[in-house]
Amino acid sequence: MESQKLTFARTTSSEIILGADIFKEIAARLYRTRTARKCAIITNEVVAKWYLQPLLAELRTRGIKADEIVIPDGEKFKTFETAHDIINRLCELEIDRDCPIIGLGGGVVCDIAGFTASIFKRGVPLILMPTSLMAMVDASIGGKNGVNLEHGKNLVGSFYQPLLTAIDVSVLRTLPLTQLSYGLVEAIKHGAVADSAYFRFILKNSEEIKARQINLLQRLIRRSIHIKKSFVVEDELDQGVRAQLNLGHTFGHALETAGSYIRLHHGEAVGLGMLMALRASSSSGLLEEDYSEALLQLLKDFNLPQKIPNELEKKEIINTLCQDKKKNQEGYTFILPVKLGQAVIHKVSADRIDDFLSAALKNI
Ligand SMILES: NC(=O)c1ccc[n+]([C@@H]2O[C@H](COP(=O)([O-])OP(=O)(O)OC[C@H]3O[C@@H](n4cnc5c(N)ncnc54)[C@H](O)[C@@H]3O)[C@@H](O)[C@H]2O)c1
Ligand SMILES: [Zn+2]
Repeated sequence: MESQKLTFARTTSSEIILGADIFKEIAARLYRTRTARKCAIITNEVVAKWYLQPLLAELRTRGIKADEIVIPDGEKFKTFETAHDIINRLCELEIDRDCPIIGLGGGVVCDIAGFTASIFKRGVPLILMPTSLMAMVDASIGGKNGVNLEHGKNLVGSFYQPLLTAIDVSVLRTLPLTQLSYGLVEAIKHGAVADSAYFRFILKNSEEIKARQINLLQRLIRRSIHIKKSFVVEDELDQGVRAQLNLGHTFGHALETAGSYIRLHHGEAVGLGMLMALRASSSSGLLEEDYSEALLQLLKDFNLPQKIPNELEKKEIINTLCQDKKKNQEGYTFILPVKLGQAVIHKVSADRIDDFLSAALKNI
């Protein structure tokens, strides 16, 4: 038998820009690269109303032909069917391999734009322009994308880094406050996992954040990007330390599932999930600093639930957690807080899981 080894040096890099006048900057950069004089913008009908024309105007000023593909608004359209429709439109628009796709919108648009860019003609350049706080601090950073199936969320997707993530903080002025709060939960999580001063900064400035003080929001987004970036650069394909960014998510997903994805929004569920993680960590003897009170204060400040809704069955939550995909032969994996700014990956064996989960749900 013969064997020949192939080694590929695939290095990808990605740039993130943050500030004002970003639409102009995108047009200037595309003009300078000169490779493509054509691009496609993927957005949704809500974001299009606010920001499509300004972006088109900047691109056209530079002589770049831009066509838009506007998808319906909402998580329920993050599907294969929508991706298929987008791909058909890209063919009709004769988008070539060197024509960038620009995703302009919240996390749903970023995820589906990233997914289609990664598979269309085996990959075309991707630019993400996140417009929700969730997309700015999380979905547009790190190269994960995906679509939902009937069997579950984000079950199909790829790792595909955008060439550029371009964040214009001023667009947050039109984002509903509830959506701002949902995105903020991921920023709070960044503080909880990696930076206690950042967590306290959010706690101290909740009023200014709600008032959307642009300079303050820019500082916040910069800090979150820095934290997410540090995990992603070390572990691009999510096989190690990047898992820490899932703090509150294993519990949160079980709450979302128990509420059939209607009762609780992802942001609300992750906020409660972080509280559950604190309880579980305490009962496992891992918690050195209990910051539940500070977390509860933040949830209150941003009008997020501080208790699991009564109608969600604890049994159902436990069942869902037991079926969680993170189970393997060694047991179940959870991310648990140790103290503010530090979390660990923790394994729980099958014979201990019932006690562990009951403790996590206590008094929440
Ligand atoms: N790929 C990743 O790493 C990653 C990380 C986090 C979340 N996500 C995904 O992101 C999605 C959630 O993102 P989301 O919370 O942004 O939801 P979303 O994209 O549905 O946006 C929320 C709502 O805000 C609207 N909106 C967005 N920007 C606006 C603006 N500037 N002004 C007014 N309205 C605006 C949207 O049209 C939508 O109605 C989920 O599908 C989740 O799986 C992915
Ligand atoms: Zn999340």
